[in-house]
Amino acid sequence: MKAITIPEPGEADALVPADVPTPEPAQGQVRIRVGAAGVNRADVMQRKGFYPPPPGASEYPGLEVSGTVDALGEGVDGWQVGDEVCALLEGGGYADYVCVPEGQVLPVPSGVSVEDAAALPEVVSTVWANVFMTANLMPGQTLLVHGGSSGIGTMAIQLAREVGARVAVTAGSAEKLEACRTLGAEVLVNYREQDFVEVLRAATAGAGADVILDNMGAKYLARNVDALAVNGRLVVIGLQGGAKAELDLGKLLRKRAAVVATSLRARPASEKAAIVAAVREHVWPLVESGRVKPVIQSRHPLGEAAAAHQELEASGHIGKILLLP
Ligand SMILES: NC(=O)c1ccc[n+]([C@@H]2O[C@H](COP(=O)([O-])OP(=O)(O)OC[C@H]3O[C@@H](n4cnc5c(N)ncnc54)[C@H](OP(=O)(O)O)[C@@H]3O)[C@@H](O)[C@H]2O)c1
Repeated sequence: MKAITIPEPGEADALVPADVPTPEPAQGQVRIRVGAAGVNRADVMQRKGFYPPPPGASEYPGLEVSGTVDALGEGVDGWQVGDEVCALLEGGGYADYVCVPEGQVLPVPSGVSVEDAAALPEVVSTVWANVFMTANLMPGQTLLVHGGSSGIGTMAIQLAREVGARVAVTAGSAEKLEACRTLGAEVLVNYREQDFVEVLRAATAGAGADVILDNMGAKYLARNVDALAVNGRLVVIGLQGGAKAELDLGKLLRKRAAVVATSLRARPASEKAAIVAAVREHVWPLVESGRVKPVIQSRHPLGEAAAAHQELEASGHIGKILLLP
């Protein structure tokens, strides 16, 4: 089969299409003939050599795919050859075929094409696990999403809106903020021109955000703590602004607030399966009703994965970028 390999970490041209052995499904795994693969910021980190695959995972990049079940490992009872599915992976999605534990597989939601379904597993699982399972966002509360127009952000806005929360976002351009508004964000902050702490306070009568979903890490830590409401929860999922910063525990203590940092990829298969099951129960009905949609910026042939990475890194996109084998 064809896969995108990374012989040496580096810039986008480090992604090299190659002929590699087709993987065989192990016990409890299904093999998917890939129809489309989602491109994630984590894939860029892996390409640069900063985010190696966990032990036992495929060495090829790609954390989510959609396609058709093509072979079953021993003991698989939830899926059949020919099923149209999408899946959350530990790696290996940039390929013609990929194997994945059956608990990380979801049916393609009705009303969504097989191709478009590749835009769902990673963002939906990340948002559900962090904003709802970990931070317990409730109706009527305020969620601040940094990078509101990102793949993650476009899904976080829609899901928070659906549970009846109020959504505030940061983004770097008026066009991106307008896209966030269309998806349901009510408080729009252009972080290049405005201070999100001030805008949040003004928009919440001084209260701040109950939950913050953060992609920036160190650079935003102090201001995120300032922007948190009493009992607020800051969930850090990205370190685009660095990993080390000073945390004022006094401010956290006075607010009875929490800071959590998580990675989906590093979780064991059993935890991923629990998240995927919760997604199927809580999010899939919203997608099947048409209320929540994958937001897709562009599609590239698998062999042009380098161009897809350049597009992601240029950061002009809104939503997801897909690769098509
Ligand atoms: N921990 C996990 O399990 C997990 C899982 C999935 C994703 N993630 C993380 O979630 C983040 C989003 O992932 P993605 O794949 O959706 O990435 P993406 O589409 O490439 O989005 C990255 C976003 O960062 C924004 N950004 C850059 N500088 C910013 C700043 N100073 N303030 C606010 N936003 C800024 C960019 O928007 P502007 O142009 O507006 O700056 C862009 O929308 C990444 O950090 C990724 O690593 C974590």
